Amino acid sequence: MILLNGKKLALEIQSEIKKEVDLFKQASITPGLAVIMIGDDAASQVYVRKKAEACKEVGIYSVVHEMPENIKEETILNTIKLMNENSNINGILVQLPLPSHINQTKILEAIDPKKDVDGFHPFNIGRLVLNLDSFVPCTPLGIMKIFEEYKINLEGKNVCIVGASNIVGKPMLALLLNANATVDICHIYTKNLKNHTKRADIVIIGVGKAGLITEDMVKDDAIVIDIGINRLENGKISGDVDFENVSKKCSYITPVPGGVGPMTIAMLLSNTLKATKL
Ligand code: GUN
Repeated sequence: MILLNGKKLALEIQSEIKKEVDLFKQASITPGLAVIMIGDDAASQVYVRKKAEACKEVGIYSVVHEMPENIKEETILNTIKLMNENSNINGILVQLPLPSHINQTKILEAIDPKKDVDGFHPFNIGRLVLNLDSFVPCTPLGIMKIFEEYKINLEGKNVCIVGASNIVGKPMLALLLNANATVDICHIYTKNLKNHTKRADIVIIGVGKAGLITEDMVKDDAIVIDIGINRLENGKISGDVDFENVSKKCSYITPVPGGVGPMTIAMLLSNTLKATKL
């Protein structure tokens, strides 16, 4: 079993990004990222802090607009408009989830697609599906980089994605199809999940349920990518996979923490650099 070390790969990518940021700075350009964070969801606060820290490490300027839970939609839209027009800001990210009174589609569609470093705008999702150059959502993009780094060929592979969200499962599906894999996508209404996961050469799981994927659900030598981040009662962080038992059966597996998570952040920096180049 080979551990897919996302943490190490993310650090290598970040050091390459830092070199490119330094070159921009020599030309008096500082890449800039604006993050909009609404409410006080604890997990979102941790993610936003990590994103800001990563920006600082590579020299990207970042500003976090924190807004209260009861903020008006119009205020968020006005902030996005200002960021769209601000030439010092190359990337804009609205941390999800949003409070229920805010129309998420309206907010995401307000972001200039050229500054959409999360790749959540319908313009970018549409281009991704058509296999055209676009901003690609950070978690699926990070997973593709892991496949590339470990020379995991996707052509003709059976891949089972568990979790069909707009921000991970669906863009992952598009990337894998574009790489000529055969993709099966499962969700909460899927009957007999095991029938699907057991057939797959590669299982990608991100639903936020610790221990959902057990050893009997994967075939021998499967490749397992765990996107889940769950805090257990003992305070430890775990993924959606029963790592101890599943890892014995796998050819490759991502750990949690230290697998996909750091790659998501590295891809945000990479997308911010891409936006700066635009
Ligand atoms: N919430 C959970 N994951 C993400 C992400 O990748 N981007 C944003 N904006 N919000 C999230």
